[in-house]
Amino acid sequence: MMPSLHPLLVLSLLLLLSSPLGTLADDGQPSSKPIVTTIHKDSSFYTIPVKDGAPLVLDLAGSLVWTTTCPPSHHRVPCNSSVCHVANRNLPASCASSANGGQQPGNSDDPNCACAAYPYNPASGQCGSGDLTAVPLSANATDGKSPLFPVSFSTYVACAPGGLLTSLPPGAAGVAGLSRMPLSLPTQVAKRLKVAKEFALCLPGGGETGAAIFGGGPFELPSFPPGIVNFADAIRRNPTRLLKNPKNGAYYFGVQGIAVNQVAVPVAAGALALDRRQGTGGVVFSTVTPYTTLRSDVYLPLINAFDAATSGIPRRKPIPPLQLCYESSAFSSTRVGPGVANIDLMLDGGRNWTLPGGSSLVQVDGATLCFAFDMMSPEQSAAANAPAIIFGAYQMENNLMLFDLEKSTFGASGLLSGMRTGCYNFASMG
Ligand SMILES: *[C@@H]1O[C@H](CO)[C@@H](O)[C@H](O)[C@H]1NC(C)=O
Ligand SMILES: *[C@@H]1O[C@H](CO)[C@@H](O)[C@H](O)[C@H]1NC(C)=O
Ligand SMILES: *[C@@H]1O[C@H](CO)[C@@H](O)[C@H](O)[C@H]1NC(C)=O
Repeated sequence: MMPSLHPLLVLSLLLLLSSPLGTLADDGQPSSKPIVTTIHKDSSFYTIPVKDGAPLVLDLAGSLVWTTTCPPSHHRVPCNSSVCHVANRNLPASCASSANGGQQPGNSDDPNCACAAYPYNPASGQCGSGDLTAVPLSANATDGKSPLFPVSFSTYVACAPGGLLTSLPPGAAGVAGLSRMPLSLPTQVAKRLKVAKEFALCLPGGGETGAAIFGGGPFELPSFPPGIVNFADAIRRNPTRLLKNPKNGAYYFGVQGIAVNQVAVPVAAGALALDRRQGTGGVVFSTVTPYTTLRSDVYLPLINAFDAATSGIPRRKPIPPLQLCYESSAFSSTRVGPGVANIDLMLDGGRNWTLPGGSSLVQVDGATLCFAFDMMSPEQSAAANAPAIIFGAYQMENNLMLFDLEKSTFGASGLLSGMRTGCYNFASMG
C-alpha cells in the first residue's frame, strides 16, 4: 500500500512540478550564454550528441524531445500539470488517435497519475506513448567563436519504447524536436538557460561535421582569405518572415513562385499558398526529408523547366527517387557547385532565395549528378496538413540557417562554399 502523503505536501509538489521550468536541479552552472553542439550526418539524418552516448535526430518540425534511454525509475510528471497539458497540444494526426484511446491529461486529480506523452517518429510516421519526465542534456556554452565550458540542463522529454526508433539511424536513441512548440529543444533551452529564443543550424554534408547554436549570439567563423565573419549579424539584418500553420509548430515561409534560369515555372496561381484554416499547402522546412519534395503539380513543371534549361548536357540513367541525372564531367565547376541554371524561390516581399548548382544537383556517384528534388506520392499529398513543398535537408546543407522564434523570422547565408568556408569550420566550436 502507498503511504499517504500530507495534503499540503501533495499540493506543493503539484505546484512545483506544474511550473513550466520545473524545479529539477541543474548540474551545470546556470548560463545566460548560448550553447553549441556538433551535428553529425548519419545516413540521411542529422544527429546531435546532447545526451551522452545516445544521440538525438534533429527534427525541425518536431514538438517534443524524446528518447528510448529513460532510466527505469525516472521521475514522473503528474497528469494534472500545465506541462502535461502543453505536451499534448497539437498532436500529429497519428498520435491524436493513440491519445484519444489513452488517458486524457488533466482529467485526474490523482497525484499518482503519471502524464502520458506521445512521441512521434518523423521518419516512419509512427507514434508511441510513454511517460513525460525530465533528464539532463549537455552541450557547451559558447561566445560564438569557441566552446567555453560544459553546460548541463534539465529538459522535459518523452520516454519512448525501443520500437519507435524504426527508420532512424542505428546510433540514434531518439529525436530532438526544434519546432516553435513549448516543449521543443530551442523553447526549453531558452527558458531554462534564459537565452534568446533563437537557434542556428549549419547542416553538414556527408562525412563532415556541422554545428547548432541555441540561444542567439554571434556566429563567427574563420573564412578564407583570412578574417573573421560574423555570419549571424549579416543574416539578422536581412530576415524573412516565417509563417505559422495553426495545426502544427513547423516552420513555413511564403513563396510566390519559382524560376529556373530567370524564367518563371508555370504553376497555378495559389498553388504554393498555405491554407491556414485547413492547415494544408504552403512551403515548410524539414530536416528529415533528404531532398526538397514537391506536390506533383509543382514538381512536374519544375523538373520540365530544369530539363529544358539543361538540354545540352549529356544524361545518365535516373537513380530513384531522383529522376533527372547527368554526366558530371559535362559541368564546369564553380565555388557554389556545378555550373548550371539557378533556381530562384521568389519569396514574399520581393526577395529571392537562389539555389545554385551545389544546392540543386547532388553527386550520387563518381560520374553522375542528379537533380536533387523529389515528387510527393499521392498518399503524401493527400495526408492531413500536407504542404505544397517540403524544403528538405540537402537544400539547407552548408548554409547557416537562423531561426528566430521571438520575431518569427528566418535567414539563410547561402552556400558557405561561396564565401570560402563551410559548416565544418563551425564544428570546431562544438
Ligand atoms: C563539448 O565540448 C567537448 C570538448 O570539446 C566535446 O567533447 C563535446 O562533444 C561537446 N559537446 C557537444 C554536445 O557538442
Ligand atoms: C488539477 O485539478 C483540479 C481539479 O480538477 C483543478 O482545480 C486544478 O486547477 C488542476 N491543476 C492544474 C495545475 O491543472
Ligand atoms: C528574382 O528572381 C526572378 C526570376 O529569376 C527575377 O526576375 C527577379 O529579378 C529576381 N528579383 C531580385 C530582387 O533579384
